[in-house]
Amino acid sequence: MSEVCVVGMGYIGLPTAILMAHAGHQVTGVDIDIKRINKLDSGGTPIDEPHLHNLLKRVTASGNLRFATRPEQADAFFVAVPTPCDDHHACDLNDVITAIDSLIPYLRSGNLIVVESTVPPGTCAKKIKPLLEKSGFIVGRDLHLAHCPERVLPGNILYELVNNNRIIGGFTPQCSELAAGYYLGLVKGELLITDCDTAEMTKLMENTYRDLNIALANETALICHQLGLNVLEVIKLANQHPRVNILNPGPGVGGHCLAVDPYFIIEKAPSRAQLISMARKINSEMPAYISRLAGDLLSGINDPRIVALGVTYKGNVADCRESPALEIIDHLQLAGYDVVVYDPYVEAFNRDLLAAVHGSDLMLLLSDHNDFLKLDYWELTRAMRTPMIFDTRNLLDPANFTSSSVVFYNLGNIPVHTRP
Ligand SMILES: NC(=O)c1ccc[n+]([C@@H]2O[C@H](COP(=O)([O-])OP(=O)(O)OC[C@H]3O[C@@H](n4cnc5c(N)ncnc54)[C@H](O)[C@@H]3O)[C@@H](O)[C@H]2O)c1
Repeated sequence: MSEVCVVGMGYIGLPTAILMAHAGHQVTGVDIDIKRINKLDSGGTPIDEPHLHNLLKRVTASGNLRFATRPEQADAFFVAVPTPCDDHHACDLNDVITAIDSLIPYLRSGNLIVVESTVPPGTCAKKIKPLLEKSGFIVGRDLHLAHCPERVLPGNILYELVNNNRIIGGFTPQCSELAAGYYLGLVKGELLITDCDTAEMTKLMENTYRDLNIALANETALICHQLGLNVLEVIKLANQHPRVNILNPGPGVGGHCLAVDPYFIIEKAPSRAQLISMARKINSEMPAYISRLAGDLLSGINDPRIVALGVTYKGNVADCRESPALEIIDHLQLAGYDVVVYDPYVEAFNRDLLAAVHGSDLMLLLSDHNDFLKLDYWELTRAMRTPMIFDTRNLLDPANFTSSSVVFYNLGNIPVHTRP
């Protein structure tokens, strides 16, 4: 078994470090965030994922995993630090560069460096390789470099880390082979060997494909709204075709992957990436569109009050990064609406829902938490001044409201008089 150093104790790095330790390696989990390290040292987890806490307890008790604020010498280094967009939608590589720089004093001949962070094509070969070579070692000869991107689903990370097929993109075939050796110990899925440029582009294409598919659903929603058709019915029927699978329209696309990664392709080939740019534009405009619809539903009501259900970018997680729900709430507040926010996953918004809906005029459902399926809508809507629901996620069954006095809208039945 080897010594492993995982840099970045977030959604990707922490579960990876835990699984590496579980596989028997001696692992140091590194993060520059001292509060995060203190929390981990005291047995807490900064992220909430099924089974993570129990497994963390086991591997720390076994002595296979410990935490530090600085890297240490190891046989292999795995880097999983953030790669957000900068103000111009280009990939901000600052954290990756700082993390790689921080490894230089600890590198030894024969080391493997794996970049798990999502990066634009060419990053490993053109940016990370020269950085690593500041150590005096040559990549491909003394050091081994690979890009092994993640494709996990938040809320199911540990399961997917183990069971998904995994792309291993080495700078040389030997780099791939060495990296694959580490993943073999923890991944039950297939290991798909390629070069680092191809691995970088493949990862971006996966999220871009989903962004495009959602943009198609969203554009269809806008068209159906204009034509007075039910988009949900149209998509449901179209998906009965054996080779069609259109995703759901909704309030926009959020998170640190789908809403970010397509820009890394646009950045590399701006004049070619026309469809990809258009999909980004369509999805980015959805929050403003949904806000306008919500505003129109409230026209004629004096001093309307909105209760927004959900601020996270997707259901059943606490992650608010790039969340369209937050953007919609901002739009509505800027337009002068009184908006009370409720989200059981986000501490700041985990309040008494019944008190929040009291006297309100619109319940605006923005995140598809399973908890929202279990709410007592009969009791909640009775406390509202105007019992009106707009489900932007197509989460609730409209049939549950047909025999009540509740006016229920989703993207399928929003009235045509609201502005498309
Ligand atoms: N979260 C996902 O579901 C997911 C899925 C696929 C790919 N990715 C990619 O994985 C990468 C990591 O994402 P994440 O969601 O784990 O991020 P995260 O924000 O949850 O965690 C990143 C951690 O890295 C730490 N960090 C930043 N700079 C550092 C440095 N120089 N040294 C040590 N630690 C440092 C931060 O303090 C933070 O704790 C990103 O490139 C992301 O796009 C994430």
